Amino acid sequence: MTRLRRARASDAATLARLEAAATAHPWSERLWAESIRQHQCWLAEEAGESMGAIVWREVCDEAELLNLVVAPARQGRGLGGRLLGHLLSAIGPERNLFLEVRAGNLPALRLYRRFGLVELGRRAGYYPGAQGREDAILMGRFVREPGTP
Ligand SMILES: CC(C)(COP(=O)(O)OP(=O)(O)OC[C@H]1O[C@@H](n2cnc3c(N)ncnc32)[C@H](O)[C@@H]1OP(=O)(O)O)[C@@H](O)C(=O)NCCC(=O)NCCS
Repeated sequence: MTRLRRARASDAATLARLEAAATAHPWSERLWAESIRQHQCWLAEEAGESMGAIVWREVCDEAELLNLVVAPARQGRGLGGRLLGHLLSAIGPERNLFLEVRAGNLPALRLYRRFGLVELGRRAGYYPGAQGREDAILMGRFVREPGTP
């Protein structure tokens, strides 16, 4: 059974290790610790083991997805979707949501599109990559004009 819970300060090292196994560009343990303190940081546990995490921040009527990661052995079986679904129900239907993703990150792009998020823009050469620079795709959902009541 998968259980989602808010991350605690003591989870920072575990989350840093989990992400280092899943991506070539992981956050440091210190950044995880700061994010746990400052933002919404939730982790998915199975039999007491951390299998994934999601981090977002909320600013007024807007939310920004800052990180989403699933342990390699657990990818492709819907856990990323479960974590993203948790964010969407937490922010409710009326907040805009934004995120940035590497243009070559097909699993993430597929996941975001499945949840109805669309491409809003592109930053050419934004990320350093193994084969030179890589574009960032700005994605999200735009459900209200900024500042509207
Ligand atoms: C992105 C990530 C969180 C998705 O987690 P997940 O548990 O695998 O997500 P899901 O199983 O819910 O969905 C993954 C989607 O990618 C697809 N996918 C999986 N491997 C793929 C591959 N190699 N190429 C293309 N698509 C792939 C799946 O079929 C699924 O697509 P669908 O929704 O159309 O069926 C996970 O791949 C990950 O941790 N990647 C490393 C960190 C990362 O890139 N995070 C995103 C930062 S913006």
